[in-house]
Amino acid sequence: MWETGAGQGETTKEQGVQTVVVVGQGYVGLPLAMRAVEVGYRVVGHDLDESRVKRLAAGESYVEDIPDATLRSALASGRYVATSEAAECEGFDYAVITVPTPLKEGVPDLSFVESSARALAPLLRPGATVVLESTTYPGTTRELLVPILEEGSGLLAGRDFMVGYSPERIDPGNRRWGLVNTPKVVSGIDERSKASVKSFYDSIVERTVPVSRPEEAEMVKLLENTFRHVNVALVNELAMFAGDLGIDVWEAIDAASTKPFGFMRFTPGPGVGGHCLPVDPSYLSWQVKRRVGAPFRFVELANDINDHMPHYVVRRLTLALNRQQRSVNGARVLLIGLAYKPNTGDARESPALTVAELLLDLGARVAAADPYVDPSVVDARVEMVEMDCAQLAAADAVVVLTDHDAFDWSLLDSHDGYVFDTRFRVAGERVEHL
Ligand SMILES: NC(=O)c1ccc[n+]([C@@H]2O[C@H](COP(=O)([O-])OP(=O)(O)OC[C@H]3O[C@@H](n4cnc5c(N)ncnc54)[C@H](O)[C@@H]3O)[C@@H](O)[C@H]2O)c1
Repeated sequence: MWETGAGQGETTKEQGVQTVVVVGQGYVGLPLAMRAVEVGYRVVGHDLDESRVKRLAAGESYVEDIPDATLRSALASGRYVATSEAAECEGFDYAVITVPTPLKEGVPDLSFVESSARALAPLLRPGATVVLESTTYPGTTRELLVPILEEGSGLLAGRDFMVGYSPERIDPGNRRWGLVNTPKVVSGIDERSKASVKSFYDSIVERTVPVSRPEEAEMVKLLENTFRHVNVALVNELAMFAGDLGIDVWEAIDAASTKPFGFMRFTPGPGVGGHCLPVDPSYLSWQVKRRVGAPFRFVELANDINDHMPHYVVRRLTLALNRQQRSVNGARVLLIGLAYKPNTGDARESPALTVAELLLDLGARVAAADPYVDPSVVDARVEMVEMDCAQLAAADAVVVLTDHDAFDWSLLDSHDGYVFDTRFRVAGERVEHL
């Protein structure tokens, strides 16, 4: 499996180099795998998606934060392989699980974590360490992961092998804070496990933050994302009321942000998307309901407000067209941006896709411009176009949903048709803001 260098073809295992398996080569797993190669580990990137594995093996990255050149240099080092075969993970010192943890009908779906653990268990050997990074409810590492690993390996966690949890904080597209300079919370099921997990991440990131147990570490991630979810909901609700009160909420937020303490800036938008905010807080409320029997009211309220935002966007657009004595039915609406946040192609749970569907259902002719989003994830009734003068001129209304830097925003500044900007990116007399 291991080659000492590109093209040499000599299969050998270098002395003293530790092997890291990263299960799941997505937004979280691939950057971790690349960093582990960079600092000198031998890395197996395991992913069940064969088409992804083929692309990786060909040096083609599908994660924006990882340029093809980084992947190719990892492959050329001879210390990175991508594989869909679990057997190739044999002999690892560390295994890190970075697989999806979605909701299925509102309930945490840990089937990917379970299947990863089942695949790793028979390959576990004494002295190895397994770390879970996937976002999940407190208790998962100890109550779900450990029993599967013990049963499948015949070994005892804590005595024979080590287990821990370390929440991922990666923010795709963020150029200021990445895997290496963002402090990483680490934990273990006992002191030995914690020390092993810490020592691994000390070699990967600049600063680790140990906490007492996996349960606290699991809570950290949910606290961070619930905090964000609730605060986004707060400004979204404020934006809806401010509109009715005739107050410019953006100006108020900008001014409030000058307070150097006790305030943190959050901005309104067409709703929340991605893998985290629409999903993670519900992991926490599900566990609270299950274990404590009480509703987590903040999470439920935030879900309610944020889920409502695409409907609010459509309502504002409907009112604007109404003022022009037009109906949504038959209007040509141009959506600018479909990804859930700027400068990424990630459209998972994107509120922009919901806005598009709501408008289509009302009979609008919907066109959308997004240079990053794969058209195959967009409703086939949406016409994918470029954002240019001809498309702007053909539209009865333009709605800004994602403010990618790659768009030529000056086109909108000079556009003389109606624009509804949910991101406060453009100015002008004919522009209405959220
Ligand atoms: N994307 C983010 O910004 C982000 C940030 C922090 C935390 N997280 C969390 O990290 C976890 C992973 O998220 P992601 O965005 O990297 O997901 P992703 O969908 O980008 O990647 C996950 C990969 O795991 C693979 N996979 C699924 N089951 C597998 C299995 N049994 N064995 C091997 N591979 C398997 C999938 O094919 C996929 O390629 C989730 O729990 C998520 O909540 C994500």
